[in-house]
Amino acid sequence: MDVLVVGEGGREHALVWKLQQSPQVENVYCAPGNAGMEEVITVSRDSYHELADAVEENKIGLTVVGPEAPLCEGIVDVFRERGLKIVGPPQQAAKLEGSKVYAKDFMRRHGIPTSDYQAFDSSEAAVEYIHNEGAPIVVKADGLAAGKGVTVAQTEEDAVEAVEQCFGGAFGEAGKQVVLEKCLQGTEASIVALTDGKTILPLASSQDYKRVGEGDTGANTGGMGAISPAPVVTPEVWEDVDRRILQPFLRGCQEENLDYRGIIYAGIIVQNGEANVLEFNVRFGDPETQAVLPRLEDDLVPALMAAEEQRLSEISLAWKKDAAVCVVLASGGYPGKYEKGLEIRGVDQAVSKGGIVFHAGTKSSEGRLVTAGGRVMAVTALGSNYDEARKKVYDAAECISWKDMYYRRDIGKGFQP
Ligand code: GLY
Repeated sequence: MDVLVVGEGGREHALVWKLQQSPQVENVYCAPGNAGMEEVITVSRDSYHELADAVEENKIGLTVVGPEAPLCEGIVDVFRERGLKIVGPPQQAAKLEGSKVYAKDFMRRHGIPTSDYQAFDSSEAAVEYIHNEGAPIVVKADGLAAGKGVTVAQTEEDAVEAVEQCFGGAFGEAGKQVVLEKCLQGTEASIVALTDGKTILPLASSQDYKRVGEGDTGANTGGMGAISPAPVVTPEVWEDVDRRILQPFLRGCQEENLDYRGIIYAGIIVQNGEANVLEFNVRFGDPETQAVLPRLEDDLVPALMAAEEQRLSEISLAWKKDAAVCVVLASGGYPGKYEKGLEIRGVDQAVSKGGIVFHAGTKSSEGRLVTAGGRVMAVTALGSNYDEARKKVYDAAECISWKDMYYRRDIGKGFQP
């Protein structure tokens, strides 16, 4: 069978890497892909109908969608109407990521633990709420804002400024509504699961490192690294997550006829062994996928296919006991301004040191590999504990270089072996 991965980042390269190992897969197509996915066949089409045409022409048996935007724009609806197999929720269900208001209301309707909140469509009422509730407080633009729509405001002034930015048009349509929610304390983790709408099959837990600076300082980014498993997700926390989050999520989808067949990602925060949901995403995490998939012993394809065909109860997944540490190599200046087109060296040496290199913002230019984004690549290594995986991953990362390359050196640090 041939498969298609939609997207172009590190997460999608990790999916391509895993799918290429499947004995069931002949070719992995990618739309549009990146320089790390050069061996795959690229179909780059402008609309989901044209992409579906390409899928039909090439007799692609399964499509997997990486980023949220195509899901929120309805790619699954287009493909399913045409009888094409695709892993992902339909547009209505993708609102769990595409609209913070929808997600919070869904959680409230189905008793899923999350912080208290209120939604606003005008600045005046939101500002009054901020002054009544005080800080810290979380300000979220309702829609997709390229990861920039959430502010954890430590002061009322910062919260008011964030609200005014939203209503002032900083995020376009995404900021027309704002959610204000109580700021929860604890340790964050990522719970990603496959579902066919009837059964839910969690993948290994993971934890990402969102801040640009070591010690979790500085600006928020798309993710500077990840580890799997997440130490905070103990067996007791897993039990809590299943009972109070995943099962109610599934029942909620059924009660609301969402026809959810795909990935659900719950960003959780754990305190005293109890989890609350910070957000739902309707896709694999990035860079969590780059840490999680190298730990998967089994073929991913039967599980994805079973989710699409609603027979996920037949599937179980075996995981390596090893710890995975994934370090994102970024352009100097990211998440602010950065240079592009810089030559990248040392990838083969990194691989020879045991690193698995996933490309993100890379491209080929006149026979050279060059930078083409903020997060350029991710290097993952496995070890019998976090320290062993850390040593391996940093030995590998050190082999790679380009002008002003930056990475955090504390990913996976400080956990018991
Ligand atoms: N790592 C966070 C995300 O994928 O949304």
